[in-house]
Formats: sequence, C-alpha cells, structure tokens
Amino acid sequence: MSSLLRILRFTRTLSPLYTAVILCSVLTSAAALAVPFLIGHATDTVAGAVGGQTATGTAVRTVVLIAAAVLLAELANTVISNVGGWFGDVMSNRMRTILSVRYYDKLLHLPQRWFDGEITGTIVARLNRSIAEITAFAKTMSNAFASMLITTVAVLAISAWYAWPLTVLLLIVFPVYVWLTSLTSVKWQKLEAEKNVQVDIASGRFAEVVGQIRVVKSFVRERGELEDFSRRFSSTDATTREQSSHWHRMDVLRRSFLNLVFFGIYVIIFVRTVQGAFSLGEMVLLVQLMSMAKAPVESMSWVIDSAQRAIAGSRDYFRVMETPVDPRTAAVMAARPAGSELAAPAVEPVPGAPVLAFRGVDFAYEEGEDVLHEIDFRVHPGEKIALVGESGGGKSTIVNLLLGLYEPRRGSIEVVGRPSAELPLDQLRARIGVVFQDASLFSGTIRENIAYGRPGASDEEVHDAARRANADAFIRRFPDGYEQVIGERGLKLSGGQRQRIAVARAMLKDAPVLVLDEATSALDTKAEIQVQKGLDELMDGRTSLIIAHRLSTIAEVDRIITLRDGHIDEIGAPSELAETGGIYAQLLALQSAGDSRRLARYDITG
Ligand SMILES: Nc1ncnc2c1ncn2[C@@H]1O[C@H](COP(=O)(O)OP(=O)(O)OP(=O)(O)O)[C@@H](O)[C@H]1O
Ligand SMILES: [Mg+2]
Repeated sequence: MSSLLRILRFTRTLSPLYTAVILCSVLTSAAALAVPFLIGHATDTVAGAVGGQTATGTAVRTVVLIAAAVLLAELANTVISNVGGWFGDVMSNRMRTILSVRYYDKLLHLPQRWFDGEITGTIVARLNRSIAEITAFAKTMSNAFASMLITTVAVLAISAWYAWPLTVLLLIVFPVYVWLTSLTSVKWQKLEAEKNVQVDIASGRFAEVVGQIRVVKSFVRERGELEDFSRRFSSTDATTREQSSHWHRMDVLRRSFLNLVFFGIYVIIFVRTVQGAFSLGEMVLLVQLMSMAKAPVESMSWVIDSAQRAIAGSRDYFRVMETPVDPRTAAVMAARPAGSELAAPAVEPVPGAPVLAFRGVDFAYEEGEDVLHEIDFRVHPGEKIALVGESGGGKSTIVNLLLGLYEPRRGSIEVVGRPSAELPLDQLRARIGVVFQDASLFSGTIRENIAYGRPGASDEEVHDAARRANADAFIRRFPDGYEQVIGERGLKLSGGQRQRIAVARAMLKDAPVLVLDEATSALDTKAEIQVQKGLDELMDGRTSLIIAHRLSTIAEVDRIITLRDGHIDEIGAPSELAETGGIYAQLLALQSAGDSRRLARYDITG
C-alpha cells in the first residue's frame, strides 16, 4: 500500500487531474442515486392511480414528469461519466509519461556495473509491465472508486433510514467480502510473480535473439531458441491452473456468501412490505438501492486484484528507482541543462603533470577476481602510447577505467595531473575521444551518428570528420548520403564502414586525448592506411592511447606497454621492445612469420 502512496507522491503534479476525475465520479454517482428515488416515487404514483386514490390525469402528468427527470439524471450520468473518462485517459497517460521518463532518467544515472548484470529485454519487459499495471489501476481507481465509495455510503445511510437490519447486513457483507478477496489475492499475486519471472526471462532472450538474429540463423538455432521460449511460457501454464482454480474457488465462496446475505435482505424487504411497513414505491426504491450496493461489492474483488497487481508493479518499479545512482553521473546530469553540448575541457592541467597516469591500479569486475594488477604508467602530453597484449589481458578494461566507467579497487588514475575520481565526469569525458572496440552505432542517420557528441555540429564539420575517417566517399554513395538510416546498431553497414563512422564520431569530438581500441581492425589494408592518415593528422599534437592487434599500425608510437594477465610486462620504445624477447617481440615474430607464410603460400599457389 505504501508503494501506491509513493506513486501518488511521485505524480503529485497530476493532482488537478485526480481532482477532476474524482469530481466527475461524485457527480455521476449522485445522478445514479437519484434514479431509484424517482422510480420509487413513480411506483407510488402508479399504485395510487391504480388504487383510485389519485386522479388518472394528475397521475399521468406526474409519471411523465418523473420519467423526464429520470431521463435528465441518466443523460447527466452519461455525459459526466464520459467527461470523467476523458480526464481519466489523460491522467493515466500523463502518469505513464511521468513514470517512464523518471525510470529512464534513473537508468541513465546508474553505474555501468548495474548494466553489466542486466539483460536489456528483461529491463524493458519489467518496466512496461509495472508501469502498465500502475496506470491501469490509477485509471480504474479514479473512475470507479470514488463513485463506489459514495454509492456505498449513500446506500448504507438510506437503508438505515428505512430499515436498520438491512444496514447491519450490508455492514457485514463489505468487510467479509474484502477480507475474502484479499485472502485470494495474496496467493494469486505470489503465483503471478513466479510467472512474471519466467515471462521476463523469455522476453529478455527474445530481444537478444532479434538483435542478433544473424548468429541465430547461421548456427540454425531457430528451433532451439523457439523451444526455450515456448518452454518458459508453457511453464506458466501449470502456475496459471493453480492460480485460477484458487481464484475461482474463492470466488464461489465469497459470491455464495454475498448471495446468502442478499437472500436475507430481500426477505426483509418483501416481508416488511407485505406487513405494511413500506409502500410499494419504497419497496422498489430499496430493491434498487440494494442492487446498486451489490455492484461495488462485486467490483471490489476486481479493484483489490488490480490494486495488488499495481502494488507488485510499483514494488518492481521502486526496486529499480532505489538502486543507488552513480553520484558522478548524477552530478553531471544535474549540472548540465538538457540539450547542452559537451562541455569544453575547462579544468586547467597541472603544469608539467602527465596527461594520463595510472598509479598502482588494481581492478576487478567481480569481487575477488582481479583483472588488472598494479597497473602503473604515465603518458606525457603529445605522447603516443600503444597497449599490446593477448586477448583478455585487460586492455579495454584500462580504457573503461580511464573513462570513469568503473572505479579502481586500489590505486588511482590521474588525468592532467588531477585525480580522475575528483574530476566532474563531463570534464573527464570531454577530454577523451574514444573509438570503442565494437563500433556501437545508433539506428538513426549517419549524420546523427557522427554528430552524436556534438549534435549542433555544422554539415561542414560533419563532412570534414567523415573525410578524415575515409568515410565520406562511401557515405556519398548511399542514396540518401549523410541522411541514410543505418538500422539498429548500424547493422546495415559493413564492419569497416561502421568503424569509420565511429572514428569520424571521435574525430568530430576533437578531444585532447584520443583513445583507439582496435579502431581500424575491421578495415582492409588500403582503407586502414587511409584512415590511419586521418588519425595521424588527428593525433598530431594530441595524446593518444592506441590498442591494436595488428602491430604494423603501432610501429610509429613513442612507447609500447605490454600487458600479460593483467600485469604490465614491459614498457619501452618499439625498437627496444623488439629486442627484449618479451610479448611484443614474440608477437612481432609471429606476425612477420605469418606474413611470410602467407607470402610463401601465395608463391606456391600463384
Ligand atoms: N563487464 C565485464 N564484467 C566482468 N568481466 C569482464 C567484463 N569485461 C571484461 N571482463 C573480463 O576482463 C578481462 C579483460 O578484458 P578486456 O576486455 O579488458 O580484455 P582485452 O585486453 O581488451 O581483450 P581483447 O584484446 O580481446 O579486446 C577478461 O578476462 C574479461 O573476461
Ligand atoms: Mg579489448
């Protein structure tokens, strides 16, 4: 219940809409309550005329007037309930907007670590369900609850006026019915949560499969994936059977109880009328009031059900909302107005300090499993440094730490002489232009992708960056040129094209430090040389950190750092390390041997 109150507090701005909806439902139920009185009055008039106490002419005039009044009341009911429905629609949509935006906002504040442990499709499925359930409840509640409450209170008061035993019976019905319903609901919800777990996992996998359909197809895993999916959903069948039989058994119980009580109510009304305590009109009025009272009781089960769902939904919702945010991201989001461009690096470098420095950094993604040990190196202004090491050695992890995506477990990282942990993240990230190992593009146009870090960049700047990344020519060959839409994650592009867009994106950012994580690995030698030319130009006067498996691309760097199992093995100029017999020398030997083997093979077949 408290989580529902939190939702109300969360959506405080909607209070005018809540009020409007409740007001409409008060008016609707007032109009509905008038009808039994009018019909009762009409019955008495008819009885009077039939019994000869009233003149027929007068009685006719009266009943026609009463019928007109009923018409008015019902018309009012129709119109006002529709106006209320409109407010309800608007309100629930606004509520969905508020809850979704807040959720998204929250997600964007969460640390990278949180995302490592979640499956995208599952996050989305959970969000959609919890928000749908909360808003559905808000809508039914605001439309139905107030009028239910008013009807109930009015019926109780009126019946107390005519015959208190009726009131007593009604007073028993309500709490017992609610009690039975919530009893049903508790178990029902528990089972529902079990089902949701399965459905969320299946939805997460579904999204993954759609996103990577190529892999699924190439390994002919369609059937396997489909079976997993269907097994997850089928496993909810058994739960549903149990859930539903429980619900329906309890419904038989509570409705039978309701029928029994109403049996008593009708007996009282009919017998007392026969005994002369009520006129015919009063009997009709009471019978109608009682059936009006029945509606809220019955819909109570439904309201409680949807309330329970909403409670479960809001719990899911708040579980994410309560996840501790990354304070540094939060600080940046709070400080920067929406839509503002990337801040210029305003933090003054400490004179003479290295641009980047790792000091005794240990790091683990998972507790107890260190990926980096004692990483210690410095990069001076204008230097070009390459990271070399076998796959899984921790090169990309160093980039992640540098960007402040994770915090070191021990030791510290300094950027322009200042502890990176103390730099505002936007300042830190404005200094570093990065091309990730996977090009990671978005589904929009090529232009949007290149200008991702600087949405306000001019066409000229975008084209220039593309030209330097050797992308301009292939972009212009698309029918829509720079406006070409490239599909989810850029899937409509070749791997090398994607990389060149990512390089252009980093070039346009124009940051003082450039980090290239296998930025040209997907390019053929010719394209690589062309991109390299652009990159060389870009690296001129900048500090760069380059990761490349193809050693020819890093032959020109100032120093190489080799990594072995997360340790720094050697640091030195390429010419020095070529002689030491370390990793670099070994890789160099292997690559040139590979090249000559390839050449030899070419000679034989050629
Ligand atoms: N998000 C993560 N969560 C847990 N472990 C991770 C994560 N990312 C990487 N690792 C682990 O950290 C280690 C280093 O990974 P990293 O990506 O830094 O290697 P790399 O040197 O860049 O390799 P490659 O040359 O193949 O790109 C690997 O053993 C990997 O399994
Ligand atoms: Mg890597």
